[in-house]
Amino acid sequence: EKYLDTEFIGRKIYYFDTIDSTNKKAKEIALEEVEGTIVISEEQTLGRGRLGRGWVSPKGKGIWMSIILKPQIDPMKVAKITQIGAAAVSLALEDLDIKSYIKWPNDIVINRKKVCGILTEMSCELNMINYVIMGIGINVNLDKQDFRGEIENVGTSLKVETGKKISRKKLLGLFLNRFEELYTSFINKDNFEDTLKICRNKSILIGKEVRIIKGRDEKSGKVVGINDEGELLVDYGENKVENIMSGEVSVRGL
Ligand code: BTN
Repeated sequence: EKYLDTEFIGRKIYYFDTIDSTNKKAKEIALEEVEGTIVISEEQTLGRGRLGRGWVSPKGKGIWMSIILKPQIDPMKVAKITQIGAAAVSLALEDLDIKSYIKWPNDIVINRKKVCGILTEMSCELNMINYVIMGIGINVNLDKQDFRGEIENVGTSLKVETGKKISRKKLLGLFLNRFEELYTSFINKDNFEDTLKICRNKSILIGKEVRIIKGRDEKSGKVVGINDEGELLVDYGENKVENIMSGEVSVRGL
């Protein structure tokens, strides 16, 4: 069966049995490679997460991958590409009849636990993007025992949540197809609405009381929506609604 149906995303693949981090490798080769090239590995020995955290990436159990992108857009808009990635993961899971939610800006959760995270890094000069690396980790067939220590109550896998082993090959193909569709539409037609619709529909935060943590600063509020720029709208009471950009914030409490 043929799963990949893309024009350029995932048409060139660097495949590793083991590697420190696919994001690191992708950054090393990005300047010479064509857009859409992916770096994927069976295992990562030094997987990286957001906010300086690590990412558990055991052999053969997940999709540990980085996509090299070269969007000619304002670097300020790169956060949108990460949201496109999150929307594409959620759609690919839906293609497999697995219901998931997006925890803004770019975590995918099932039963309130994280099954996928995205780490986007970029290089730019004089307001021009050299490349964007979108690193995606999907916890596909990890077992309960793989989530020990700090991540025990936060992380999960598709296998743990559905009770079934999922084909990584199939999920990868479905994701790349979905991603290319939303990404090309954004780049070529400036269409971010399709992604927004998905992010709003699948949002686990809208309507919830959350704590917004920015460094040492912590505030409580209610999430009232996501604006057209993809920013989170938080109501702190007394009619004070703030829009929060992705970046150095962490949202707690579902
Ligand atoms: C997060 O903190 O939620 C982001 C996790 C990103 C993990 C992926 S796995 C493939 C790629 N390589 C890395 O080192 N990190 C990303």
